[in-house]
Amino acid sequence: MQNIRNFCIIAHIDHGKSTLADRFLELTGTVEKRKMHEQFLDQMELERERGITIKLQPVRMSYALHAEHYALNLIDTPGHVDFSYEVSRSLAAVEGAILLVDATKGVQAQTLANLHLAQKQGLVIIPVINKIDLPNAKVSEVEEEIRHLLPETEGVGLVLKISAKTGEGVPAVLESVVKLIPAPQIANYRLPVTNSLRALIFDSSFDIYKGVIAYVRVFDGSVKAGERIKLFASKAGSDVIEVGCFMPRLKKEQQLLAGEIGYIATGLKNPGQVRVGDTIFKVGDGELAEALHGYLEPKPMVFASFYPESSDDYDTLKDALGKLKLTDASLVYEPESSPALGRGFRLGFLGMLHIEIVSERLRREFGLALIVSTPSVEYHVATKRVEVLKIRSAAALPDPGIIESIEEPIVELEILSPVSYMGQLMKLLAELRSQYRATDYLSKEVAILKYLVPLSEIITDFYDRLKSVSSGYASMSYEPSGYQVYDLVRLDILVAEERVEPFSKIVPREQAYYEGRRIVEKLKKILPRQWFTVSLQAAIGGKIIARETIPALRKDVTGYLYGGDVTRKKKLLEKQKRGKAKMKERGRVEIPQKVFLEMLKK
Ligand code: GTP
Repeated sequence: MQNIRNFCIIAHIDHGKSTLADRFLELTGTVEKRKMHEQFLDQMELERERGITIKLQPVRMSYALHAEHYALNLIDTPGHVDFSYEVSRSLAAVEGAILLVDATKGVQAQTLANLHLAQKQGLVIIPVINKIDLPNAKVSEVEEEIRHLLPETEGVGLVLKISAKTGEGVPAVLESVVKLIPAPQIANYRLPVTNSLRALIFDSSFDIYKGVIAYVRVFDGSVKAGERIKLFASKAGSDVIEVGCFMPRLKKEQQLLAGEIGYIATGLKNPGQVRVGDTIFKVGDGELAEALHGYLEPKPMVFASFYPESSDDYDTLKDALGKLKLTDASLVYEPESSPALGRGFRLGFLGMLHIEIVSERLRREFGLALIVSTPSVEYHVATKRVEVLKIRSAAALPDPGIIESIEEPIVELEILSPVSYMGQLMKLLAELRSQYRATDYLSKEVAILKYLVPLSEIITDFYDRLKSVSSGYASMSYEPSGYQVYDLVRLDILVAEERVEPFSKIVPREQAYYEGRRIVEKLKKILPRQWFTVSLQAAIGGKIIARETIPALRKDVTGYLYGGDVTRKKKLLEKQKRGKAKMKERGRVEIPQKVFLEMLKK
């Protein structure tokens, strides 16, 4: 037991986490050097292309130091802000963390957010500066930033400097892991039954034969195949099919013991029953024992409707979502239908990156062409009938007559940036409905801006704008911070007097006029002309606040007449007019899919 070390790596995207993990695997002989790229191939196509870790991959390594043998369990953590709950559960599964910072980029907002999470869990932090081989490495500046964050490292020379690429300094990191991170302590917690179990789920995957595979940290007791288990929050029960560890591929073991990290193949077929943060018990103790704390219900933050471009693809989309859900338990969806778009689904996501990943995967892995509606947050709507409605799409907002008030989600936003961009960043934030809170300094050159801001303000193109005003240097993280009432209204867009649902959105009343104008003007530019005049209107309730018209296409019916037979010409024009009126009567405008996609872009 004393020879186990459980740890993870906290790093911002691209700071070298996967590269460092690869060096660890080589140094400990876990994966042979010539097989290294094979493991790389294991990752999703999208991950490799974007160079980001979407799916975390735990691994057990054997390591010898001064004739002692250790089992090192490394859990990788996803670097993006969307996945902070998953990160917090990974952190809860270990005793220490390597804080990895790129020497050319310095500390970033997400690193900071995850460091706070790690400190809250009471983890031992090992600060490491990576990429010291690069000519533009600013090792001493970055060291100053780290010392500011971790004052206890002052003067102890604890900040390690490495190149994960060349391997320089990496052995010292493994030594520090063994020396500084404590072995897992078996909690004093006494279960009522001997040989019982408490295991924390920090991730899961799916296997068609073994069902949902829970990735766990065992805190108390033990577990082996054949035993009957129960999950605390989801109440699901099953017989364990297999247990084992990560090498990094799944390797079957006789049993898993307290202090260890490994997997439990549950045989359960529904991934929604095996949730990150839940506790696994053995049946018998479950009713008596206490769950490990920190569990949260999966909570999507951003919602969008997905419709197949062709209605024939509805079943394909349905199957595809079911399959994605097997590997991405945080994805939620329910069927929805719209008069304009037919049958589709309303999906809930952790954040904007998550939307992007899911739509890309649907496109690439399932060949689906999709229409995606304007993303929305969840509003709480108090009505005159006392009930509070939870609304996740503008189309679902009730009649303004019965609404008392609408609350929207607020987040605490932290932006970390070189001081030289503070001016532009504050200007950008001033354009949003934001509330300035504070500025902290990480070093002379790097500051943290803190704001309260409605989530809806930052879900569309805020991240891109942040990057563009700061030449890519600013980074951000955010955390939910309750709900606040605001004067919000539903803005509808009518094309030829018919409401087009995917264009509806919930906006602040004072911005409705401007936003309505912007949308109808844009539509006028991109909607193809019809045989009849098409009116474009923006409306709140029944009231039209902006209007444009697209003139009809006019076929030159008189063109072939020469010699000025005016009456004849008039007659023809008259006939054309009647024809158009008829068409208009029947006239529903078919909106091409590309118009929907175009309208999503600001
Ligand atoms: P995410 O998976 O997105 O969180 O990124 P990551 O932190 O795993 O970064 P990754 O290991 O993919 O490294 C990002 C880039 O930095 C890659 O191109 C690496 O080759 C490069 N890199 C990593 N470590 C070093 C280093 O020590 N020196 C140099 N020169 N490049 C490095």
